[in-house]
Amino acid sequence: MDEERTAAWWGRRAWALLSAVRVRAPLVQCITNLVSMDIVANALLAAGASPAMIHCLREVPDFTPRCDAVCINVGTLSEDWLPSMHAAASACRPWVLDPVAAAASEFRMEACLSLLALRPAVVRGNASEILALASRSIAASSTFKGADSSHDSGDALEAAKSLAQSTGTVIAVSGAVDYITDGNQVVGASNGVAMMQKITATGCAVTALITAFVAVEPSDALVAAACALAIFGLAGEIGMESAKGPASLRMHLVDALYCLDEQTVTSRVKITLQS
Ligand SMILES: *[C@@H]1O[C@H](CO)[C@@H](O)[C@H](O)[C@H]1NC(C)=O
Repeated sequence: MDEERTAAWWGRRAWALLSAVRVRAPLVQCITNLVSMDIVANALLAAGASPAMIHCLREVPDFTPRCDAVCINVGTLSEDWLPSMHAAASACRPWVLDPVAAAASEFRMEACLSLLALRPAVVRGNASEILALASRSIAASSTFKGADSSHDSGDALEAAKSLAQSTGTVIAVSGAVDYITDGNQVVGASNGVAMMQKITATGCAVTALITAFVAVEPSDALVAAACALAIFGLAGEIGMESAKGPASLRMHLVDALYCLDEQTVTSRVKITLQS
């Protein structure tokens, strides 16, 4: 039976998934960029997950199959790391991709496209990244052109839907409102504060949190991604109540994520079905 997805339903789902992460402590391997390693590992720990920051190719065959999920982030991509990313993405289901600055170079774009072919459960990027990926990955498409930093998440929504349909992956576009789509349904998550963008690697951290949520809810990556985005944004809102600027927000956000309780999550998570 299809339950109606009211605000209260989303609040309960978000709390249930955060609780599942806390109880099950999913082992999440992160091949992430050098800038983000600290906040990614600490955000996962605060949420109750178990991060493993392992990227050596020779460790992948032994270690990766034991993980509950893998998070791959191309922010500080190198030729040495790409084979580890391919191997880890192939060795574990589910896995999640963060295509940081996908259009920065041809090498990076091709790396992202080759990773996309390995069927991530979720791709989480900003509007520019999703527009760039969609314009390259969707055959014969002339509709999705250009990708600059002025794009808002709403501008990338059509591209995200097409990309989701053509790849069979859930696409999450971060912005003032985060949009999450499987190509059919679109969900909006609107928790968060603007100051979070002044902290480096918050996007990477939320991608890692999505990975932990997908680890405990692999059969519904759309719901898992929407709940993780809303929970992380909510932690930012609560952190902002005590923060003086980006550095203290970073600290208070991690504390808030650790301290979230049922009442706060169910009453403050803002997720709505858009279509
Ligand atoms: C998306 O992220 C990339 C990499 O951090 C950045 O260069 C770009 O300006 C961002 N775009 C938007 C719309 O925020």
